Amino acid sequence: MTIDYNQRIPNNVNLANDRTLQRALEHWQPKFLDWWREMGPNDFAAADVYLRTAVGVDAQGWASYGAVKMPDYRWGIFLADPVADRTIGFGDHYGQPVWQQVPGELRSQFRRIIVTQGDTEPASVEQQHLLGHSCPSLYDLRNLFQVNVEEGRHLWAMVYLLHAYFGRDGREEAEELLARHSGDVDKPRILGTFNEPIDDWLSFFMFTYFTDRDGKFQLKSLAESAFDPLSRTCRFMLTEEAHHMFVGETGVGRVVKRTLELMKESGTDDSQAIRDQGAIDLPTIQRYLNFWFTSSLDLFGSEVSSNAAGSFASGIKGRPDEDQYQDHVCSEAAYDLQTPQGTQTVSLRNAMNEVMRLSYIKDCEIGVKRWNMQMQRAGSDFRLALPSPRFRRTIGSWAGAATDPLGNPISREEYERRVQDWLPSEADRAFVRSVMQRVTAPGKIAGWIAPPDRGINSLPVDYEYVRLS
Ligand SMILES: [Fe+2]
Ligand SMILES: [Fe+2]
Repeated sequence: MTIDYNQRIPNNVNLANDRTLQRALEHWQPKFLDWWREMGPNDFAAADVYLRTAVGVDAQGWASYGAVKMPDYRWGIFLADPVADRTIGFGDHYGQPVWQQVPGELRSQFRRIIVTQGDTEPASVEQQHLLGHSCPSLYDLRNLFQVNVEEGRHLWAMVYLLHAYFGRDGREEAEELLARHSGDVDKPRILGTFNEPIDDWLSFFMFTYFTDRDGKFQLKSLAESAFDPLSRTCRFMLTEEAHHMFVGETGVGRVVKRTLELMKESGTDDSQAIRDQGAIDLPTIQRYLNFWFTSSLDLFGSEVSSNAAGSFASGIKGRPDEDQYQDHVCSEAAYDLQTPQGTQTVSLRNAMNEVMRLSYIKDCEIGVKRWNMQMQRAGSDFRLALPSPRFRRTIGSWAGAATDPLGNPISREEYERRVQDWLPSEADRAFVRSVMQRVTAPGKIAGWIAPPDRGINSLPVDYEYVRLS
């Protein structure tokens, strides 16, 4: 299905044939643009940014690249092509044809899940609202803006579903998605991580590595959904999402690379000595990793969840890559959980959040291994590590339990005494912010990060990816 760019709202859902829906979305569009101007990277509204825009939904060749002013970005509605004769892949309705409409009895659950996903998309744009001012290079500035416009598009993806399938309730929820704001005291975003400020680029890279990866797993589980329009929407979002995690993985890798270079040049791994040279010492990188990883783990919810069991049973949400499992019904299987009180055996359906969290953790480990290889090659003994999923949790059976990063239970006093070694302190954050000096000359890069190995879309690294005017 090709994307129709002659419409006010680019789409491949034949919007022109549904005048009521089209009008409703055209009514929401200016509100979205107002939100973008108020809460997005609006100080750069006049800049020409080298952005990719979706022109199709094929895995190959789906994007075109060119200079765009962000407020002119063509946000639209793009669903992956339908899979012929698709059947439900899990739960009580396993093997039955998928649904083109939401069953009445599942309406509120579907709506809640779409709203929760939708809420994260504009939230991250709000969190990154001021980052452009401290960009380490034009290449990075462009990547930030690419991520921002695509999170805006992901909001469109969810708003389309709300408008198209949930009537008046859906339209009201779409308004609310623009009314809540990240970190707002009265109307915060729904999930904790999306209210954390991102005011330095190390946090941005950790966020895109760990929190966008949570997004990947949520989208993968919704791509399994029995509600086919939701599945198709999420499948195309996953295509866009991959770049966000690339930005995170290579971003952290380049920070590590620069620090290793300075360690080698100066012949020391002393944190203060590295900081004195304007780079970020490896223990600080570990503390940032601890913060964003643990915060992202909470996004998967409680280990034991009747909600998760219900979503799986009814076909709302499967496991990421459901194909990899033998048993797609899971009505008999049991699952052993390690809780602070000991081993607890629950039904597998009730443990679906934990199953998903564990596959997420496995995926997180891949990048950590790559960063550690850089250290090994550079002759450093330092290694980054993911903390235990018991550490610093605020949701689930380990919530509030005092443990060290390895997950060993410790006293509250010991935790308080040592937390400075494990999580970024105010002084760490102030230091990291202090090195974030804006660099905007083409091909130039800030001193705390190495340049990228290659540019965007085969262009050279020193290409003027953002033309500031
Ligand atoms: Fe997204
Ligand atoms: Fe993303």
